[in-house]
Amino acid sequence: MSQNHARTSRTNDLASRIDAGFRTAIAAALSDYASVNSAPIDPLIKAAANPKFGDFQANFAMSLAKSLGKNPREVAQQVVDAAPPSLRDLCEPFEIAGPGFVNIRLRPESIANALTAMDSATLGVSNDNKTHTVAVDLCGVNVAKQMHVGHLRATIIGDTIARLFERLGWNVHRQNHLGDWGLPIAMTLAALRRAKVDIARVTLDDLNRAYRRAQAEGRDDEAGLAAAHATAVGPHRIAELEAQHEGAAAALADAHDTLRRLQSGDAAVVADWQKLIDVTMHEVYETAQLLGVDLKPEHNRGESFFRDRLTPTVDAFVAANLAVRDAGALVVRFEGRERPLLIQKSDGTSLYATTDLAAARYRIQDLGSELVVYCVDARQRDHFNDVFDAVALIGWTKRADGREASLVHVPFGAVLGSDKRPLKTRSGENFTLKALLDEAIARGRREVHARAASPDAPTAALSPAELDAIGQAVGIAAIKYADLSSDVSRDYVFDLDRMVSFEGDTGPYAQYAHARIAGILAKASAQGAAAGALVIATPQERSLALNLLRYPGAIEDAASQLAPNRIAAFIFELANTFNAFYQACPVLRGADESTRASRLHLCDLTRRVLADALSIMAITAPSRM
Ligand code: ARG
Repeated sequence: MSQNHARTSRTNDLASRIDAGFRTAIAAALSDYASVNSAPIDPLIKAAANPKFGDFQANFAMSLAKSLGKNPREVAQQVVDAAPPSLRDLCEPFEIAGPGFVNIRLRPESIANALTAMDSATLGVSNDNKTHTVAVDLCGVNVAKQMHVGHLRATIIGDTIARLFERLGWNVHRQNHLGDWGLPIAMTLAALRRAKVDIARVTLDDLNRAYRRAQAEGRDDEAGLAAAHATAVGPHRIAELEAQHEGAAAALADAHDTLRRLQSGDAAVVADWQKLIDVTMHEVYETAQLLGVDLKPEHNRGESFFRDRLTPTVDAFVAANLAVRDAGALVVRFEGRERPLLIQKSDGTSLYATTDLAAARYRIQDLGSELVVYCVDARQRDHFNDVFDAVALIGWTKRADGREASLVHVPFGAVLGSDKRPLKTRSGENFTLKALLDEAIARGRREVHARAASPDAPTAALSPAELDAIGQAVGIAAIKYADLSSDVSRDYVFDLDRMVSFEGDTGPYAQYAHARIAGILAKASAQGAAAGALVIATPQERSLALNLLRYPGAIEDAASQLAPNRIAAFIFELANTFNAFYQACPVLRGADESTRASRLHLCDLTRRVLADALSIMAITAPSRM
């Protein structure tokens, strides 16, 4: 199922060097056989299933032998005999096993050399020097409404994907596609104006109330009315429903009128509208900051940003004969799909899809993106499917340089409560994101204060304010890591107890591993012990080193698959491998000087890689916990 969405340049890691070496060897060995065509043969290098047999294995021999009509072990031997010096120098003598696997064990010096080469500010991660451009659609809140838990995902998944590409040296455009130009905001605005609320002093709570009131009012009870007539309920009930129906119709008409005035630039309405945006965005930025997410006013590319591009968008589809009239409205039809894409309503107004068409065009044609990533709820799958197809139909995926841009929806699943239903408060409302984060921070603080109470805790001497700051980092990490470590498209259960635990695949566990290493390094430097040349001797050192060397590849994979959970998986494995290393290999006590220097070096690299990987998810890595 894995698909590469981005061309990231591959680091020159050990696995790639082994792969290249075997390709050369196969080509050299095959020059003896005139019968095989010259198509490059994949050596099929895999990580070894069991470290007993080496670090990697090459599985090419079985299928290759078949096509040559030879014995696989013989073919494997011939290839191994043809290994170029670059490959021989890297590995211990090769072993041919079973039906013809080649077991590959790296020489300890090769591992130490590769790790030494990785020990730089970039930690071995390649940098594309801004030769690639990606746009990331993230957050996308509807203005005049408080952020709820669904926005958590759209915001942090988007931010992590943006950071992955930033880390790889891409040009990254964060695009906050705010819902600020449609009926929902007009309904709230109309409700506030009817209630004569002073918009200059409006609070987010007022907005929420007005939004809910508007939604309730707008729920037309025409069906109820028809049912009441049909089942001959009493006249009181009918009168009540009639009033409700009229009220709803009036509210809706008022909202439509407000929307029209907004969209045609009525100064008073626009001024009120701007005020609503300011109030909502204030909270959005505050929340983003709490989450460590890079989201600022300059990232706003809401629906209203595209207001002057909507008519040209519709016109372009008409001119290209791609939009047809359907009962007064304009739709784009797709071959073999019943559902058309509505791009203009019969009253001439445009809709959500129209802004998305204009936005896609802008992102590819104006920003020059070769990849546009949409971090949006899975329920909008059909919408994006249609929008992407329409953009391709009209040719806007073609960039100025002639290359095709790709549009990719990263459809995320829902956050569920313990009842496995979408997370709601006890009274059945959506959890506001703020409430959720406040609770997580409180839990993180409780945890950190409790640990600091033990006299030999590394945090024992810290002030309450310092402990609070660490506790906040822990609470936020708990929520973010739990979200980002699960497969994006899957629903997950929001379980704060599990999320804040210091054990298992959690944010606090990763932070704790980092803090523990920071503690070792601080102690070493107090004792005057310094890191030195790497010597890979024990199996645990080897396994830790190999894990560290996987870091650049993990970043590239996570980016090209648009899968933040791969970074989390890398972090978890690194933390586990480190803990196993630390248990088996004394660092400060009981090691001779050169061993200590090498192990300190491993500790230092592990700490930096952990902190760097956590920073991709914008999770802070405190040095004491
Ligand atoms: N405002 C939309 C909503 O709440 C999300 C926007 C997602 N981005 C986009 N380009 N459509 O459903």
